[in-house]
Amino acid sequence: MSRLPLVDLDRQHRDVEDEIGVGIEAVVRRGAFILGEEVAAFEREFASFSGVRHCVGVASGTDALELALRAAGIGPDDEVLVPANTFVATALGVVRAGGRPVFVDCDCETYLIGVAEAETRIGRRTRALLPVHLFGQMAPMEELRTLAEKSGLLLLEDAAQAHGASRYGVPAGKVGLAAAVSFYPGKNLGAWGDAGAVLTEHDDVARRLRALRQYGSQGGEERYLHKELGTNSRLDTLQAVVLQAKLAHLARWNDERRAAADRYDQLLRDIDGVRLPVTAEGNLHVFHLYVVRVTNRDRVLEHLRASGIEAAIHYPIPLHLQEAFRFLGYREGDFPIAEAAAREILSLPIFPGITEAEQERVAGELAHALGG
Ligand SMILES: Cc1ncc(COP(=O)(O)O)c(C=O)c1O
Repeated sequence: MSRLPLVDLDRQHRDVEDEIGVGIEAVVRRGAFILGEEVAAFEREFASFSGVRHCVGVASGTDALELALRAAGIGPDDEVLVPANTFVATALGVVRAGGRPVFVDCDCETYLIGVAEAETRIGRRTRALLPVHLFGQMAPMEELRTLAEKSGLLLLEDAAQAHGASRYGVPAGKVGLAAAVSFYPGKNLGAWGDAGAVLTEHDDVARRLRALRQYGSQGGEERYLHKELGTNSRLDTLQAVVLQAKLAHLARWNDERRAAADRYDQLLRDIDGVRLPVTAEGNLHVFHLYVVRVTNRDRVLEHLRASGIEAAIHYPIPLHLQEAFRFLGYREGDFPIAEAAAREILSLPIFPGITEAEQERVAGELAHALGG
């Protein structure tokens, strides 16, 4: 029985290995491992790919969230609205910036943050909205912008899963004051280790981020001048080499993901008991994950795994029920849509280069698990 991983990085690396080898060797020869021309070139190219003015490379997506929030001025006592159904880092970023996450339930079809729900959670201390472009499609930014403007809130974006996604032609990272991106290895654009970036249209925010990521200094002539308390969170030069080589393939890889998602839609459409992912109107989805919904989820997952198919759950426990966030005082039942989704969602293997035969195998085993 062959193993089908959730993400097969090996296949994508075949396209870029040689080029990355040459680039890494050049950095090693020069002996300049911090920032430098590779990071600057990648930042320029990723900003251009994303259709956003600035890209500031940092050490991870989690750092990108923290620094984006800090650059936006979020600090002690500020509440930031985040979806209850996201990866833990979204809310960690808020806490690390000194703020307090306030959770919001999601839409029952797309699992994106519920805009009406968000409105009901706005209070005296609310300073910002931090929607997540979950699974590869954008949150309804035009509605969120209207809400933010009406309520006097900042709008930021967690774009960790949405490299190349757009909504009504507007790219991820363009609407918010700043958007956090992750280059965790399994992401649509993944490094060979941890890496991240912040996208922003705003010159002043980009400048502040460049200082925050290196000890609060602008560097260069001002290297030992520290106007605020920064940190050390730079995009690694060697990772910039990897990311730059892979970026050249990202548009095609995203197309391949979309084609694979279409193929799953065809293969799974007639299987009783499977709810297919829903793409919201206006969205160009980049299918970081292909997430279906099934009732006997844990049994189905067990069957797939026993058959060598590495399906997964994103995410099994909504954040308001995580022990780490107990201090926020939430209880079971607070976010019924997110809680129900957490019991039934299932991520199927998807990655550039997945074959038709592999997808047929997944569909066959899924049908088998559901008694079809
Ligand atoms: C939605 C979301 N936000 C934030 C992160 C954090 O990124 P990183 O793992 O690079 O810190 C991730 C991915 O891991 C993510 O999926």
